[in-house]
Amino acid sequence: MAETAPLLQAKDLRVTLRSGIEIVRGVSFTAKAGKVLGIVGESGSGKSITMRAVMGLSPPGSVISGSIKLRGEELVRAPERRMRALRGSRIGLIFQDPMTALNPVVTVGKLIAEAVRLHNPGMPAQKAWQRAVELLELVSVPEPDVRANQYVHEFSGGMRQRAMIAMAVANNPDVLIADEPTTALDVTVQAQILDVLKGLQDRFSMGLILITHDLGVVAGAADDVIVMYAGKIMESGSVRDIFYRTRHPYTHGLLSCLPKISGEQLRLEPIPGSPPLLSARPKGCPFHPRCPMARDVCRVDEPALRPVDNVLTACHFAEQLRDGLADGTNTEAERA
Ligand SMILES: Nc1ncnc2c1ncn2[C@@H]1O[C@H](COP(=O)(O)OP(=O)(O)OP(=O)(O)O)[C@@H](O)[C@H]1O
Ligand code: SF4
Ligand SMILES: [Mg+2]
Repeated sequence: MAETAPLLQAKDLRVTLRSGIEIVRGVSFTAKAGKVLGIVGESGSGKSITMRAVMGLSPPGSVISGSIKLRGEELVRAPERRMRALRGSRIGLIFQDPMTALNPVVTVGKLIAEAVRLHNPGMPAQKAWQRAVELLELVSVPEPDVRANQYVHEFSGGMRQRAMIAMAVANNPDVLIADEPTTALDVTVQAQILDVLKGLQDRFSMGLILITHDLGVVAGAADDVIVMYAGKIMESGSVRDIFYRTRHPYTHGLLSCLPKISGEQLRLEPIPGSPPLLSARPKGCPFHPRCPMARDVCRVDEPALRPVDNVLTACHFAEQLRDGLADGTNTEAERA
């Protein structure tokens, strides 16, 4: 049987700003149909900018190189007309901030109906409206025919996010990119939104790319994970391998930031320091100023992403994490 092209595949993707600063630095990943790819990393690590490059929405004047293929079709340097046709039809995007992404002076039903008609210009307005109400129902908005006549400011945070999701899936995309869909929502609503996304993804066998700074969110939802830092992938692998057998001190640090019950105590250990400014990225491994395992070589040579056990990891001393961090923490035993 002929091999089918992967749903969405990025290879050595780079985004360089007009100023010459590279903000996405050789990112490769594959999103599979019917699977969830989680992208995690602290603020400024390049999660959104990477996904905006996939959508052909990079900052003006920036240069994109490498390859992004949607079912084999190259998107890097694809004409803007083609990208406009793909956005909102084959690739759906849920923006990080629903309040700024949703027009406040139009009813939610009209907003969604417009998203439907953008890619089906011949569809009568009434049919598009009906479809909008169906979509609100699909994302579990109660009383969708009433809600369709309301404005964004009449929607709660969770309901706004549902409306965003309804718009993003209006044309049954192959890939849905959800950029921090649960940030700023309380934990119960977060879980409901994740359920809606997972439900849609299962039902339509979409590839879902879930961007979040919260590893806890991807733990329950994702199949595979990419951990980003300073515009690069630090580690990638299956959720299980990343959570239980990380081979990277940065991932280990993020995992340690998850609240967990240890005996009677709730432990929360933030990674000391903050990510580097891209204009002042340190030489060598970008994580070295914050890394508990950093040695001389880390300050000089930037480690390449390479296979170690079941994951791809970018650390000179990845093998040593198998036996525990320099501080004596044994990752595998701790998380098993
Ligand atoms: N339009 C832009 N022009 C110039 N630089 C940008 C632009 N958008 C993002 N950047 C820079 O690129 C880097 C990555 O930003 P990005 O928005 O992708 O981070 P992120 O991982 O999504 O963070 P967050 O979790 O805060 O959303 C940051 O240093 C940011 O300042
Ligand atoms: S390469 Fe060095 S500084 Fe970077 S994560 Fe590994 S041990 Fe830490
Ligand atoms: Mg972002």
